Formats: sequence, structure tokens, C-alpha cells
Amino acid sequence: MTEDLINNNDIYFPSHIGTNDELISLLNRATLSLCHWFSDAEKYGPLPLDEDFKFNMPGENGNSKEDLFSDIDYLLRNSFNPVHPGSLAHLDPPPLNFSILGDLIAAGLNNNLLAYDLSPSITLLEESICKWFAMKIGFNNSAGGIAASGGTLSNLNALIAARNNAGLGSDPNSVLLVSEDAHSSFIKCTRIMGLHENNLIRIKTDNKGCMHIQNLRKIIDKCSVDNKKIFAVVATLGSTLRGAIDPINEISKICSERNIWLHIDGSIGGIFALTSIPIEGLKNINQANSITINPQKILGITKTSSLLLVSKMNTLENTFSTGLPYISSKKNISNRGELGIQGSRPAEIIKLWLGLRFLGMKGIEDILKSSIDRKDFFIENISKNNFEIYSGPLHIVSFLPKGIMPKDSDSWTQNIINKLMKNNFMLSRPKFKGKYFLRVVMGNYNTKESHIEELLKLLDAYL
Ligand SMILES: Cc1ncc(COP(=O)(O)O)c(C=O)c1O
Repeated sequence: MTEDLINNNDIYFPSHIGTNDELISLLNRATLSLCHWFSDAEKYGPLPLDEDFKFNMPGENGNSKEDLFSDIDYLLRNSFNPVHPGSLAHLDPPPLNFSILGDLIAAGLNNNLLAYDLSPSITLLEESICKWFAMKIGFNNSAGGIAASGGTLSNLNALIAARNNAGLGSDPNSVLLVSEDAHSSFIKCTRIMGLHENNLIRIKTDNKGCMHIQNLRKIIDKCSVDNKKIFAVVATLGSTLRGAIDPINEISKICSERNIWLHIDGSIGGIFALTSIPIEGLKNINQANSITINPQKILGITKTSSLLLVSKMNTLENTFSTGLPYISSKKNISNRGELGIQGSRPAEIIKLWLGLRFLGMKGIEDILKSSIDRKDFFIENISKNNFEIYSGPLHIVSFLPKGIMPKDSDSWTQNIINKLMKNNFMLSRPKFKGKYFLRVVMGNYNTKESHIEELLKLLDAYL
């Protein structure tokens, strides 16, 4: 091998020769930039105020290291900062330290979860972590799961498996039942599955945002009269608007009586099932056929981190396996590209594994419990005379001034969001049934009671 080639390798890729000093120095410098950005969170606020972003595009010749580090700094300064204690808008908490390391290691390994040959140890790691979760939530030994890039994809994996399991293929009469408060991505799932939006049937919710059981029974009966074939009922374990939990126990009884696949969308609340935190409605989730758990949304595992757990692993194999003619397979070990929609897939499981190993059950419980404590503190201290509160057992609160007309909710919430942003509080503005709400998501570990008090003072002052 010529000297020139070795030098080029050093510039472009990690080298198998020498000590990779160049890469070490790049990583150190990038680490410093990132950590300074974290430390500067208070100075810059949760969102950049100037949105006139200008990015340099690649030129004929490559750019210098200095140019690239200045690009990185520019990018950081103009990004949403989840570490800021006022970042309370969405299900995007600060990244867990060990999870950041996990992403780095996964990038360096550049293994591929498509096939065992391309990721031998990580294939087994992902299988083991899925099994570990499955056992924790009370599934038995035939259970397992598959990681995917986000809650939408985990839910979609489940729905495709459910439809296949029901033998419905692309039957245009096949329908899916979700509650009115279920996540909007189920509309997308329905479209991807080649179904009409009418094939997504919404079950009414009660005044707590939970699926109405009588209405579920009525709709199931009506489907059978109308010759509609239900391939799954989705119970939401933590709704996006207010963290409500559907009555899973009753829904699971109905599904088992009627032999319908029960999928739980636990994108928000599923992770709580690992802990002993007393959350109403978390029991019996092991009665489901499948459940999505999405640790990126509250635990701080860096995006994306989502698992679909299934009570019977062979339902995934039967649904997704096509054979990979260009890849060899090992006896008794599935190529994980054959267990879900995604083919090539990064080793996202590493950051989940390291995050969980670092936290242990006590750390997991501490983070989740703290989010409930912050939610409780917010609700205890918000003025009940002024605001109508919408919240469930989890860490999300939506609210509106009492008596506000739906038509006024749009401009009122937009105005408040803008004012809060100027004071470095970032809240969200979900639209639900024609009305806008203000919403806080209390999953930010850096948010202390003093910040919540400050937020509440501002809200009172704006009324
Ligand atoms: C209840 C629920 N399900 C599914 C999703 C979709 O998750 P993702 O954005 O990771 O695809 C969300 C997103 O917020 C959600 O709140």
C-alpha cells in the first residue's frame, strides 16, 4: 500500500493503521462545541429567534476543518435546544448523556440491522432488549419485538402484522378502530396501507379523553352488520393532547371475545409500565397482541428510539419475511430486516441499551416520576378560576381560559405562545376538535419548580 493511499485514508475515513489522531482531534473539538451549546442554553433560549437560516452548500473543492466547525457552530446556534428548562412544548426531552455516546458508537460501527452478517452482536442485542421489555410488561416467552425509527413506524409495523394475521391482505372492507383522541399518524398509516380514510373508524371518548366502551361495542356490532372486517383495535396509552389512557382492561376483554387484534399505542405512556409508579390503567397491558414503546419521547433516549413488542414473534416473521436473496442467513437467527418495514437500519438499539444500563430501574423511575411530579405541581398551582384543565395520569397538560369560544382560541393561543417565547418558555398549541389549546409537556428533567412558578406567573399576567 502506498504512503499516499494511507494519507488519504486518514483524511476520509478512520484508518486501520496508526492511532487515528486526526479523528480523535475532530471528535474532541465537536464534543466541545456540543457541550458549549448545552451550557449556553439559557443565553439563547429554547428556539432561535432569527429564522433566516443560510447554509453553505458543497463546492467544487472540499472545505477546510475551520469552515466545517464554523458550519457546526452555526447549526447549533440555530437549533431547537431541548436542554433549555423552558423547552416544554413537545415530547422531545433533553438527550441522556449515555444515549449521546450510543449514537456516536453506532455511527462509528456503521453496522446494519438488515442482516445478522452485517451486525452480528447488535442483532442479538436488539433481540435481547426487545425480549427484556416484553418480559417486563408481562408477555411470555413467545414474545419479542423489533425496533423502528419512531412511533409512527412501530404502529405501522403492528397494523400491517395485524391485518396480515387477520388474513385480510388488501381487502377494501378491512377497518381499523381508534379513539377520537388517537394520534393523527393513524390517518397516515391507513393511507400507506392502501385504505380509504373511512376505513379508519373513530370511537368516541369520554370527558377524560378515554375511549368510550359502550361506543366501542356499538361500532363493532355495526361493523359486522355492514360487513366491515376489523383487523385491529388501537388503545392509546397516553394521548397526545392530555396523556389520557384508554380503558385497556375492558378493551382487551372485548377484543378477546371477538378475536380482534389489540394494539396499544404506548408511544407516550408505555415506558411507565416498566416502573412501579402508580398509574391508573397500566395493568393488563400484556393482554394486547402488540404494543409500541417509544423511549425517545420521555426517557431522553436520543431520536429515534422506538420498539414494537408483539406477544407472538412469529406474527412479524409471517408478515414481513420475503427472503433476502443476496444475504446469507443463520439457522435460528432472524435477519432483522425481515421483521418489519425497514430494511437497512442503524444500530439505534445501542443508545437505548446504554441509556437503560446507565439508569437502571431506579434511574428510569426517577426520570418518569419527576415528570409526573412536575405535572402535579403545575396543576396544583395553576389558577383554577382562570383556566380549564385537560390532563390524564401522565405528564401532559392542555389548558384554556374558561369560557373561551373555539373561534377565539386560535388567536389567543398564538398570542400567548409568542409572548411566552419572548420569555424563553416554549409551549405547544395543539388543535383538537376545532379548538386550539395551550399544552405543556413536563418531560424536561432540567425544569425545576421555580421555572414552573415563573411560567404560571406569566400566564396569570397575560389573562
Ligand atoms: C400517542 C402518539 N403516538 C404516535 C406518535 C408518533 O410518533 P413519532 O413522531 O415518533 O413517529 C406520537 C407522536 O407524538 C404520539 O404522541
